[in-house]
Amino acid sequence: MKKITALFLSIILVFSLAACSGEQSTGDNSDAGINTASESTDASSSNTSRTSSQKENNTDTDSNILVVYFSMPETNKADNMTTEEDNSVVVIDGEVLGNTQYVAYVIQENTGANIFRIEPQTPYTTNHQELTSIAKQEQNNNARPRLKENVKNLDQYDTIFIGYPIWWGDMPMILYSFFDDNDLSGKKVIPFNTHGGSGFANTISKIAELEPNAQVNENGYSVSRDDVQEAEPDIKEWLKGLGY
Ligand SMILES: Cc1cc2nc3c(=O)[nH]c(=O)nc-3n(C[C@H](O)[C@H](O)[C@H](O)COP(=O)(O)O)c2cc1C
Repeated sequence: MKKITALFLSIILVFSLAACSGEQSTGDNSDAGINTASESTDASSSNTSRTSSQKENNTDTDSNILVVYFSMPETNKADNMTTEEDNSVVVIDGEVLGNTQYVAYVIQENTGANIFRIEPQTPYTTNHQELTSIAKQEQNNNARPRLKENVKNLDQYDTIFIGYPIWWGDMPMILYSFFDDNDLSGKKVIPFNTHGGSGFANTISKIAELEPNAQVNENGYSVSRDDVQEAEPDIKEWLKGLGY
């Protein structure tokens, strides 16, 4: 009888330890709080609608317009955001999108363009402090972070909308990589950006220097991160002014 009781007690002990270790590992993951950019992108597209995953990288149509953008949403979860996370995303119909990503989607929808997201080969962290110091380091080193993939069939396009957030008063260095890798000679290049107060910060003239044989449009679209959520009518108005 004693043996049966001892056996029963050890079975209970084994089950309680297993339960504890399960909780421990979940806690560890969420406490780390560091996701990669691509993890966050994957999660947000699986989370949500077909729209996000469809739009993520769609270069399948024969449109002669391409929207190229870089965006770094610092979370993929709509609730309990820190201020920094909240600053870097908009929530549209429950879907968490980077600020610049959202503007890119609106442009794509209203122009029938194809869309291409610039992503780094080594994903950026979503931890705000780490991200800001990595971005500063890249700028100081005049770095050229490698792209995960490049635009295919660039020849197909005569108009390129190019969008980015302002990082440390300039374009993120991966935009410089993009302009190094792609010769946009003869194409119309139309910049758009999102920011926390810097506006375009001279980036349009930098693009014109990097792509001297492109027609770089001076009338780009710039929106503060505080206004992105309600920007759709303005974006449409701007596009209308450009003839779309
Ligand atoms: C590393 C880093 C540096 C930034 N530097 C600036 C800046 O110099 N000026 C500014 O107006 N906003 C700055 N911001 C704010 C972003 O431009 C703004 O939040 C933008 O909308 C983010 O867009 P995204 O979600 O598409 O990445 C910075 C953000 C980060 C993450």
